[in-house]
Amino acid sequence: MCHHNRFLLLNVAKSDIISLVFQVDETLCPFKLSQEQLQLVKARMRAGLEAGLKTKGSSAIKMLPSYVYRTPDGTEHGKYLALDLGGTNFRAMMVNFKRQNARLYHKIYTIPLEIMQGTGEELFDHIAQCVSDFLDYMGMKNAHLPAGFTFSFPCEQTAIDTVSVDIKVLWGWRTGTNVCYMEEVDAELSKMCINTEWGGLGDDGSLDDIITPYDMEVNQNSINPGRQRFEKLTSGMYLGEIVRQVLLDLTRGGLLFRGHVTETLKTPGIFETKYLSQIERWEKLCVRSILQQLGLKGTCDDSIIVKEVCGAVSRRAAQLCGAGMAAVVDKIRENRGLDHLNITVGVDGALYKLHPHFSRVLKDTTEVLAPQCNVTFLPSEEGSGKGAALISAVARQMHADSLSGTLLDIMQQFRRELAKGLGRDTNPTAALKMLPTFVRSIPDGSEKGDFIALDLGGSNFRILRVKVSHEKKQTVQMESQIYDTPEDIIHGSGTRLFDHVAECLGDFMEKQNIKDKKLPVGFTFSFPCQQTKLDEGFLITWTKRFKAGGVEGMDVVKLLNKAIKKRGDYDADIMAVVNDTVGTMMTCGFDDQRCEVGIIIGTGTNACYMEELRNIDLVEGDEGRMCVNTEWGAFGDDGRLEDIRTEFDREIDRGSINPGKQLFEKMVSGMYMGELVRLILVKMAREGLVFEGRITPELLTKGKFETKHISAIEKSKEGLSKAREILTRLGVEPSTDDFSLVSQVCTVVSFRSANLIAAALAGILMRLKENKGVARLRTTVGIDGSLYKMHPQYARRLHKAVRRLVPDTDVRFLLSESGSGKGAAMVTAVAYRLTYSSRIFWSYLQSVHAFFSIYHRNVF
Ligand code: G6P
Ligand code: BGC
Repeated sequence: MCHHNRFLLLNVAKSDIISLVFQVDETLCPFKLSQEQLQLVKARMRAGLEAGLKTKGSSAIKMLPSYVYRTPDGTEHGKYLALDLGGTNFRAMMVNFKRQNARLYHKIYTIPLEIMQGTGEELFDHIAQCVSDFLDYMGMKNAHLPAGFTFSFPCEQTAIDTVSVDIKVLWGWRTGTNVCYMEEVDAELSKMCINTEWGGLGDDGSLDDIITPYDMEVNQNSINPGRQRFEKLTSGMYLGEIVRQVLLDLTRGGLLFRGHVTETLKTPGIFETKYLSQIERWEKLCVRSILQQLGLKGTCDDSIIVKEVCGAVSRRAAQLCGAGMAAVVDKIRENRGLDHLNITVGVDGALYKLHPHFSRVLKDTTEVLAPQCNVTFLPSEEGSGKGAALISAVARQMHADSLSGTLLDIMQQFRRELAKGLGRDTNPTAALKMLPTFVRSIPDGSEKGDFIALDLGGSNFRILRVKVSHEKKQTVQMESQIYDTPEDIIHGSGTRLFDHVAECLGDFMEKQNIKDKKLPVGFTFSFPCQQTKLDEGFLITWTKRFKAGGVEGMDVVKLLNKAIKKRGDYDADIMAVVNDTVGTMMTCGFDDQRCEVGIIIGTGTNACYMEELRNIDLVEGDEGRMCVNTEWGAFGDDGRLEDIRTEFDREIDRGSINPGKQLFEKMVSGMYMGELVRLILVKMAREGLVFEGRITPELLTKGKFETKHISAIEKSKEGLSKAREILTRLGVEPSTDDFSLVSQVCTVVSFRSANLIAAALAGILMRLKENKGVARLRTTVGIDGSLYKMHPQYARRLHKAVRRLVPDTDVRFLLSESGSGKGAAMVTAVAYRLTYSSRIFWSYLQSVHAFFSIYHRNVF
């Protein structure tokens, strides 16, 4: 028995487990190819390529010359008509090349099945009709445009008729699979693009040892039995059918659907390859709902088995393509006489772009089987899966895939920025302000007292009463209330804002019955503040949604004191102003003494950490450490992130209340992520790639798609139904494909966020490690913020990326369960103790002084 379906064990009664696992496993075993088998496929592909070149068309792999002698070099100009036939649809495009830019207009025409399978004449009549319609639509009926025809079927060419614009597509799995590459043809012409028609590998029987009975069935039922054997193992048109054959077999064997073979299951073509992508992307419940849509009523265990089958079939396909690709790139490397080859492979095709794991498995296999080649797969932005292509283009722009090279660069960049912000001379021009906080240590367990904590700047304005007592062990008791901060107040005058805060505080004290007491107050103020001591904070700039007038440049403690005094109905002693990151670090530090970093991933984002005092030029002293508020949201404000910012990031920035500021924050934090997704969806809808091109007023409304919607859609369990609900509220009627595309957009955006935050956090961890001079860092990071807490996958992705970026570190991520209020109270407790003890000290000194004056007077 090969590789086990271990998780089946959880769902099946114990007595049935062994036989069920065994039988499903047995069935899927032939799909699991060993490294040796893949090496053999690579070798056969290579032999096939060579044979095809020698025999000029009579071997299994045809290696057809295309008479294209170069790839585009950016000098092309003018208007061209491009016709694309061979995928699921026929596409007519008008491409206008202008100074290295290409504008593309296109229309998609479905080809009815009867025409697709009818006579050639009918097919070409239909196409001519479509082209005429398209030219009409473009208002260019009488223009004589050169036309390129992408005809995705094998054809023998003797010369090129027209200028083809489709030579960028090097590799495609639309419904089929194929590869072309630049081959050395003769000494003078040097290179010509060869259309391999690699789908024919195995037509001479060379793949018989890996072909399963299910593949044989699919081949027999196809319109070209015995041909395109490699294609039938790997491409979109057949994978769904292979899965259906396996499911049929398992059902007949009583292992699925309670042994009930339905008519649906017997219907060829019912299980499309796109379902494979969806099933592998989603979890049990969604798999069940897809099966239900297909008229297959499955149990929970059935869903698991179906997902397993899909995984086995798609994995094999990706591995086989990887083996084939390894043969092609190795050949190119040898042609060029190189020991090592760096090469870019353009890829197109719905399977590659829509399937959640195909591209990764393909890349991994190619890398293993062609170790001397460094292959970058570049998804084409045009082509049949254009919606998916746009997403991959965005993903590429957003570096959302684990482009560890880029993340490492960002991490290093961030480290340099940290150092720049700490230096006295470099700080004024640094993007990271590295603000000293005057917090010197995390809680040591001796804090006690009765405190008020104000918490302003996150999604909620909260007031807390924190009682820290010391009976046997330190215990904390908290009561809190959330108050509204209406838009007109946070955008009004500073005086109104602080009057409002003072009013809420009065209300809270009233309710707590403490209006007559003067309790020490800790003020969590989640904005960048310049501090020279603990109880003073000059607001540098508003961020996020806040923009109250007359506060920037002012000491917020003074403003609040003024508002409290003006009321005159209670008194308060504001002892400390802390950033929310500091509050979070202190809250977590209360439970874990190792905590030395605090980060927020919520409406905004930021981090603080304990820096050696000797490295903080802006504060006197060399001994010990001080917490520094990095204000990393401003990373990139000096232009450092320009090459990774996308058109969507720029649009977000333009429409924000603080253009040009907090550029990192705008790429990653909760206030902006939903909007990023909305902007991408609008672009996709404009290009006709989602929602049948319909753009509703809701979709066009800023803020209508919120970050919490991303979290809901990315939930594996109810993601699908949530997506339906959310999209319906946006006024669109989504198709199954739309769900998949929208969920991919969400993943791209949230993945990028987690990766970028991971890179910055890794920069801080590297710095801590360097400061401590240890080979392995053991530390705890305190975290808070709605995005981190609510998104189903965010935390896991972040942790994974951080551990990958700083492998020699043991990081514990500790969620701050009680917000930063508790931490602010801890800081206040220390401040209170110091002030209180110094007050006692001063009054002691004064009494000593008084005693000696009297003594002096009396004696002398
Ligand atoms: C914590 C703090 C807030 C902080 C918030 C960030 O719980 O108590 O002061 O601003 O997290 O999260 P949010 O998602 O609300 O912006
Ligand atoms: C602010 C930080 C704050 C962060 C998280 C940012 O916009 O500049 O001071 O820590 O949001 O709330």
